[in-house]
Amino acid sequence: MISCKEYVEIRKKELREQISILSKNNRVPHLGVIQIGSNDASERYVKGKKKDCEEVGIVVTHLIFKDYSSYDTNNLKQVINDMCDISNCDGIIVQLPIPDKFDVEELQNSIPAKKDVDGFRRDSMFTPCTPKGMIDYLEYNNVNLSGELCVVIGRSKIVGKPMVNLLIDRGATVICCNSKTKDLKTLTQQAKIVVSAVGKPEIFDFSYFNESQILLDVGINLNASGKLCGDISRDVKDKVTHATPVPGGVGLLTRLALLENTFEAYKMNMGGIKC
Ligand code: GUN
Repeated sequence: MISCKEYVEIRKKELREQISILSKNNRVPHLGVIQIGSNDASERYVKGKKKDCEEVGIVVTHLIFKDYSSYDTNNLKQVINDMCDISNCDGIIVQLPIPDKFDVEELQNSIPAKKDVDGFRRDSMFTPCTPKGMIDYLEYNNVNLSGELCVVIGRSKIVGKPMVNLLIDRGATVICCNSKTKDLKTLTQQAKIVVSAVGKPEIFDFSYFNESQILLDVGINLNASGKLCGDISRDVKDKVTHATPVPGGVGLLTRLALLENTFEAYKMNMGGIKC
């Protein structure tokens, strides 16, 4: 398998070329990003998303409400409506987390399904970015999923559950585990693919796995010395067929999927133009 980094570079180059061709006779794709408050992680994520967009030729409108004291959920819904109408954004995202005083679901659901490029709405036209990124990566690498046992650890609305469904759709036999799963180790040891979306630093050592597996590590955690790490111990990487690193793994795939979803939203918005 090629690394996530190489794969993302290849796909970004292709996207840049496709966007450049299509936007010769049309406007360029446009992503709207709404950020509420100034959380350090959000600042970093949004900076990364803006850089990615710039690299492939997607324009970004970034609205940041650092001082949100005079805003409520309704005012922000109006901001989203205006963004749809006035600036003709193809895709809109509300960067998470947002302060507790706002109703996250209400805001997310006020983004039209055809512009919800995060894929957070129940009826979104798009697949959530992290599961989409992982599936596209496996498919690019010709990993056979049909008939294979896959274990997904984590059942969140935006990672675990949609990942389970995407794997099922491809004919995999899927077990969805959580923190209460009994005898997790005997399940993970038998799988061909293990997806870990737990969010605890390096909790899985090699005893959970076998050498012919593919491991996708969604965790982005800080270890005891304050360094970024995944859910899976770093030393497991050299012992299995393939394990995605942290950083430089699933995070990159997620960022790529946002670009792909935004490009799809643009093509739909332009009346279904094709490359
Ligand atoms: N915060 C952390 N990850 C994400 C993401 O994928 N989308 C949004 N909107 N916020 C996030």
